[in-house]
Amino acid sequence: MSEVTEASPAPATSPLALPADFRWGVATASYQIEGAASEDGRGPSIWDTFCRVPGAVANGDNGDVACDHYHRWREDIALMKQLGVDAYRFSIAWPRVVPDGSGSTNEPGLAFYDRLTDALLEEGITPFPTLYHWDLPQALQDRGGWPARETAEHFAAYASVVAGRLGDRVKHWATLNEPLCSAWIGHLEGQMAPGVRDIEAAVRASYHLHLGHGLAVQAVRAASPGAQVGIVNNLTHCEPASDKEADVAAARRADGHANRWWMDPLHGRGYPQDMLELYGVELPEQPGDLTTIAEPLDWLGLNYYFRALVADNPGGPLPHARPVVPAGARRTHMDWEVHPPGLTKTLVRMTEDYGARCLYVTENGSAYPDVVGPDGQVDDPERVRYLDEHLAACVDAVEQGVPLAGYFAWSLMDNFEWAYGYDKRFGLVHVDYSTQRRTIKSSGHRYADFVRRHRRRARRAA
Ligand code: FCB
Repeated sequence: MSEVTEASPAPATSPLALPADFRWGVATASYQIEGAASEDGRGPSIWDTFCRVPGAVANGDNGDVACDHYHRWREDIALMKQLGVDAYRFSIAWPRVVPDGSGSTNEPGLAFYDRLTDALLEEGITPFPTLYHWDLPQALQDRGGWPARETAEHFAAYASVVAGRLGDRVKHWATLNEPLCSAWIGHLEGQMAPGVRDIEAAVRASYHLHLGHGLAVQAVRAASPGAQVGIVNNLTHCEPASDKEADVAAARRADGHANRWWMDPLHGRGYPQDMLELYGVELPEQPGDLTTIAEPLDWLGLNYYFRALVADNPGGPLPHARPVVPAGARRTHMDWEVHPPGLTKTLVRMTEDYGARCLYVTENGSAYPDVVGPDGQVDDPERVRYLDEHLAACVDAVEQGVPLAGYFAWSLMDNFEWAYGYDKRFGLVHVDYSTQRRTIKSSGHRYADFVRRHRRRARRAA
């Protein structure tokens, strides 16, 4: 493991140069870690269903047990303490709190997040819950899911219940995680729950996700005055693979599909005309919706993993743009290209084009096939390098005027990586799924070292 020594001065791009009140966090999501899928009144979610579709998830894996966090949460908070982080982004499972998606609340489900919140605060860790990280109650899917308007309304009602219960202690909320994945991957590409492949369903889902977001922002603010509410998007820096006109046009479409469709409506600009034409689907718009969708936000979250270098792909799937990975590029176990400058550029764009006033990197990380060595250690030099380079990219962004308030590493620990099952490990902490033993990897020690040194420097400067 490469150590940062106390004696070495902080280079210009050292994370130590980040603002003194920078928040250091780790992130997880309910279905990926909790397990206890049918305990204490939790209802089924679309992921429980999708995992049972033959061939949908690698190895037929599912989240029934996952990291067993529902029972081991105290141990997991202790791990956060060891890492020294001061913020934890987790998600609340809608089917634990409102098992049928609408109607009665399940007290034991709410009580779980209540205990978690108290325990985090006792340890000085600020909770940053996300209200929806893809685990829609199956009962709502059966009534039409996100393509149906009522789902947006039920989401707001659920948000109100959760904020009513936790809002005296939780001050930072995210409504949705990556609505792009719910809509495009879940309803257009069919690679994630609910596994639909239909552009009309996908566009309607995207619209109602946005509407649900806006209604939930209002609901959280009504239940918890003073709450800081944001949304988490996975934006991608899109570049043409060549300067050929067709590739440049493909990059513009890819940008519309990945970024503008998700950001413009939140900023009162409506949906991009070029994309409406490309999709050819009428929006299920009702008067006042666009104002609700553009409810002003306190912060924006960015999940960044890779950039998109794209070439024209006529006749290929929407948006008719084919990803290209340059020869010789470093790639992670997901096959994603490692490209830290894309993080800086995306943060700068959110600031310059969309006027963001408070940003968080709400996810960033890499998968590698880590193993526990004979000495019991998990040495992951590629993830250490990925972490170093992306924190340096954050520093670059701050130097260019980006109001970056914090960074959440994805993920606290290895977990259920959706359609990839347990094969892809993103954790700073290794999980042995046969014993549930957790081992902090070299990257986790590296992160802890940055946090400790950054804090010490900030204290000295104060
Ligand atoms: C993001 C998801 C997160 C995790 C990472 C690797 O798209 O938000 O749950 O799967 O990718």
